[in-house]
Amino acid sequence: MSEESRTSIHGQWSSRTAFILAATGSAVGLGNIWKFPYITGENGGGAFVLVYLICIAAIGIPIMMAEVMLGRRGRQSPVNTMAALAAEEGRPASWALLGWLGVVAGFLILSYYSVIAGWALSYVFRTASGLFSGATADGVSSIFTNLVSNPESLLAWHTIFMVATMVIVSRGVKHGIEKAVTYLMPALFVLLIILLFYSMSTGYFSQGLEFMFSPDFSKLTPGSVLVAMGHAFFTLSLGMGAIMVYGSYLPKETSIAKATFMIAVADTAVALVAGMIIFPIVFANNLEPGAGPGLIFQTLPIAFGQMEAGVLIGTLFFVLLVFAAWSSSISLIEPAVAWLVENRGMTRVSASVWCGLAVWFTGIGSLLSFNLWADKTWSLVVFGETLFENKTFFDTLDGLTANIMLPVGGLFIAIFAGWLMKPQSSKKELNTTEKGYTVWINLVRVVAPIAVMVVFLNVVGVIK
Ligand code: TRP
Repeated sequence: MSEESRTSIHGQWSSRTAFILAATGSAVGLGNIWKFPYITGENGGGAFVLVYLICIAAIGIPIMMAEVMLGRRGRQSPVNTMAALAAEEGRPASWALLGWLGVVAGFLILSYYSVIAGWALSYVFRTASGLFSGATADGVSSIFTNLVSNPESLLAWHTIFMVATMVIVSRGVKHGIEKAVTYLMPALFVLLIILLFYSMSTGYFSQGLEFMFSPDFSKLTPGSVLVAMGHAFFTLSLGMGAIMVYGSYLPKETSIAKATFMIAVADTAVALVAGMIIFPIVFANNLEPGAGPGLIFQTLPIAFGQMEAGVLIGTLFFVLLVFAAWSSSISLIEPAVAWLVENRGMTRVSASVWCGLAVWFTGIGSLLSFNLWADKTWSLVVFGETLFENKTFFDTLDGLTANIMLPVGGLFIAIFAGWLMKPQSSKKELNTTEKGYTVWINLVRVVAPIAVMVVFLNVVGVIK
C-alpha cells in the first residue's frame, strides 16, 4: 500500500481538536487526580515533583511525539503498526513484540484502574446522599475503610465501570471516544479551580505549596526516582501503544509537535492543581500525606462536608472524575481491540466483550488486595537489590506496569523512532521546523534512552 493512501480501517478523528481532546482524555485521568497526589505524598513531596516534571519534559514529550508519529505512519493497531514499520525500514519483524508488550501492559493497568474508578463511582452516590456533610476527618476515613473492606461492593462497582468502558470501546472511535470527551474535560477543569479556591481558604495553602514545590533531596531514593519516571509515562499514557493507536486515527495534516505539547501541558496542569487542592486539606486536618491509595478519598470529602453547596460540588466532582477515568480506560484497551478486529476478523463488539471479560477477571485480584488478600504479598529482588518488598497484588501490578513495562516500552519506542527509522521517514511524518526536528531527534536518540537506563541501573544498584 502506498504511504499516501494508508488510512485506518477503524476510522479517523474528525479534526485536530478531536484528537487533542481524545488524547487529553486518555492522559488526564485517575493518574492525575488519584495517583499523583498519593505518590507525591509517599515520596516526600518537592524533590519527587521536580524529578517528575523533568521526566515529563525530557522523556515524556519526545517519546509522546515518537509514539504519535509511529502510529500515524502505521495506521493500524500497535502490533501491526510496529510490524509494518519494521518491514518498511528493513528491520526485524520481531518489533511487533513491542506492540504485544503494550497490549499486555494495557490489560494489566486497566484491571486495577477499573477497581479504583469503581471507588470513584461509589463516591458519587456517597457524596450525593449527604453522607459527608459536616463529617470529621475520622468519620471520612472510616467511610473509606468500610468501602474497601467489602469485596462484594468493590466487585459491583468494578463490574459497572468495566461494562461502561467496553460499551464505549465497542461503539468505536468516532461515535464513542470522541463525543464523550468534548464537554467533560473542560468541565473537570472548572471544578478543579473551584476546589482550588476552597483549599486556599483552609489557611494551609502555603504549607501545601511548600510540600509540593520546595525540594528536599534527602528524601529522594532511587526507588522514588523510578516511581517519578514511571508516573511520567503513566500520566501521559505512554509506552504501551495507547497514544500510538490514537495517532493512527490522526489526519495527515496535523502538527504532531504542537498537539503533543498541548496535551502534556494540560495533563501536567491538572496533576499539579490536584496536588495543590489535596495537600492543604491534608495539613489542615492533621492527616498523613503518605496515606497511600486512599488519599483523595480521605481528604476531598472533608472539603465537601465543609463547603457551602458541598453536596452538589462534591457529587459533580466525582462524576467528572469517573468520566476522566472512563476516557482514559478506553485507550488502555483500544490497542487489543483494534488488533482483534484486524487480525481475527472479530467485530468491534465481540472483541470488546472478550477483552472486557479478561480484564474484569484480572481486576478481582486487585480488589481483593484491599481486604481478603491484604496479607498476600510479593517482593521483587533483582541483582540482589530489592525492587519492591511486601507488595499486595494491586501494588505489584501497579509497580510492574507503571515503573517497568511502560518505561521499557518507551525506551524501545525511542530507539526505533530515533535510531532505526530513516531520518527522512520521521522528518516527513513529523513535518516540523528544522530546529524543532533537531531538538526532538536528540532528545529521542540520546537524552530519553539514557535517562531511562540510568534510572533503571540506579535502582538495581549498578550505578549509584
Ligand atoms: N494516563 C491515564 C491516567 O493518568 C491512564 C492511562 C490511560 C494510561 N491510557 C494509558 C497509562 C496508557 C499508561 C498507558 O489516568
